[in-house]
Amino acid sequence: MDLKCQGLVLVVGLVLGLVATDQGSTESSRLSARSYDYGNALKKAILFFEGQRSGKLPSKQRVEWRGDSALTDGQQDKVKLVGGYYDAGDNVKFVWPMSFTITLLSWVGIEFREQVSYAGQLGHLRTAVRWGAKFLLRAHTSPTVLYTQVGDGSTDHQCWERPEDMDTPRTLYKITADSPGTEAAADAAAALASASMVFRSDNSTYWSKLLNRSKLLFEFANDYRGSYQASCPFYCSFSGYQDELLWAAAWLFKATNDAKYQKFVLENIEWSRSVSEFSWDNKYIGAQVLLAKEYLAGNKNLRKYKTDADAFVCSLMPNSGSVQIQTTPGGLLFTRDTANLQYVTTAALVLFVYSKTLKSAGLDGVQCNSANFSATQIRAFAKSQVDYILGNNPLNFSYMVGYGNAYSKRIHHRGASIPSINVLPRKVSCKEGFSTWFPTNDPNPNTHVGAIVGGPDSNDRFNDVRSDSSHLEPTTYINAAFVGAAAALIEEQCFLRQPFRSSAVASE
Ligand SMILES: *[C@@H]1O[C@H](CO)[C@@H](O)[C@H](O)[C@H]1NC(C)=O
Ligand SMILES: *[C@@H]1O[C@H](CO)[C@@H](O)[C@H](O)[C@H]1NC(C)=O
Ligand SMILES: *[C@@H]1O[C@H](CO)[C@@H](O)[C@H](O)[C@H]1NC(C)=O
Ligand SMILES: *[C@@H]1O[C@H](CO)[C@@H](O)[C@H](O)[C@H]1NC(C)=O
Repeated sequence: MDLKCQGLVLVVGLVLGLVATDQGSTESSRLSARSYDYGNALKKAILFFEGQRSGKLPSKQRVEWRGDSALTDGQQDKVKLVGGYYDAGDNVKFVWPMSFTITLLSWVGIEFREQVSYAGQLGHLRTAVRWGAKFLLRAHTSPTVLYTQVGDGSTDHQCWERPEDMDTPRTLYKITADSPGTEAAADAAAALASASMVFRSDNSTYWSKLLNRSKLLFEFANDYRGSYQASCPFYCSFSGYQDELLWAAAWLFKATNDAKYQKFVLENIEWSRSVSEFSWDNKYIGAQVLLAKEYLAGNKNLRKYKTDADAFVCSLMPNSGSVQIQTTPGGLLFTRDTANLQYVTTAALVLFVYSKTLKSAGLDGVQCNSANFSATQIRAFAKSQVDYILGNNPLNFSYMVGYGNAYSKRIHHRGASIPSINVLPRKVSCKEGFSTWFPTNDPNPNTHVGAIVGGPDSNDRFNDVRSDSSHLEPTTYINAAFVGAAAALIEEQCFLRQPFRSSAVASE
């Protein structure tokens, strides 16, 4: 990060801080006065992914409390399924949400490439995408076979073990032509199509490999339709698979410009519906935002996607007249009390991307029932959500570990809550983890820097208690969406004045 630019942000922050102190701590000054270092938040949010790595760690591994783990995943089927990411605070690899995570990270690498590069993080972001994409390529062992889960969810959850000690069954789940799972295959297709765009300009071999596999996965998803339920009760499909098919087709259209995918999103336009959440289950708004851009670029028959994207904005913006998602008294979107920040971070990402799209198309903004919102207002609302997460909230608490002065010391995370194998090399068993390390009130021995937890309740309250997984557990998709929301806020005036640093690209 350029020091002059950083200094400017700091000075502005200090001045605003002083003004706020003079005025006393009224709610309005609380909301307007703080300034956050989004570059630092971005860096930490990406670093988190190194702590979630499964498999053989590379020599450049920066999260040093972790070690190699799950080196025989896939063995019983004679398939190499080593690598990928642990999903959350447990040690299961769920390919469906992992694909969503990779797609979100790739989207950031495409949409906010300059900002990420300006913050010096493009190399790290690309490494995070590649780590995930590599695993998806491995899991896709033939055109109509995709491994969708490694590790038995219930036994894993009955143990409190570091990934390095793990001895629970690494059960394999897969989808095939006979036993399909459209959501999972389509999401893997979306992940590889978006990832291909991240690597397009500098490795055409890798680009073409990712794209080829993405096309095969899309065909598999579409030709063998069936809802994916094998990862239930952990990840059950509630919204069906039509959203995933649109999402994958929209990505393939964007990545290839092939009329075949345009035809698909047009022929199935009636699947599109207005929604008020974006999640590992429900991806309609993701497809709508991508396709609204196509509509605005001249694909006039894609109008419904733009209309539905507008409705998403109205469902979130306070005082729109058609709000579906309430905010907490402190101003945080509150969708559901189970890892609510997942919905906040994805909504913020969508609002940033969409406001940018509207602005580039020269549109005023979005019309809702009882208010109109400019692109600037939509963006400001998204920013308020990011700022809340970083500490601008009634508790003055940062929901990102290692960011700010007050943050969670007891995240619900097996690896973080048991001493590192570098410190305690002997095996810590399944039960010992639960009796010794899980229930203690002591802070976690390992600081999982960048981890964003599930967040506060509907009244902005939060208790830093490890057992409370709904509020204390980080997940890969919360962080992936936050990476985008933080990137969108990297000071534009600042980075636009600088030449883009192509060197950041090479540091992989
Ligand atoms: C490009 O990607 C291919 C396939 O993954 C890889 O083998 C090769 O080393 C990469 N080349 C560069 C220059 O990174
Ligand atoms: C991708 O597919 C195209 C067309 O079938 C083929 O020409 C190309 O070699 C493939 N690329 C890779 C890396 O397999
Ligand atoms: C929103 O903008 C439209 C078009 O300019 C206008 O007709 C309408 O009255 C505005 N609605 C509100 C609530 O301001
Ligand atoms: C949060 O910070 C504000 C401004 O510094 C202060 O007035 C307020 O008392 C703090 N709230 C808590 C719960 O510490």
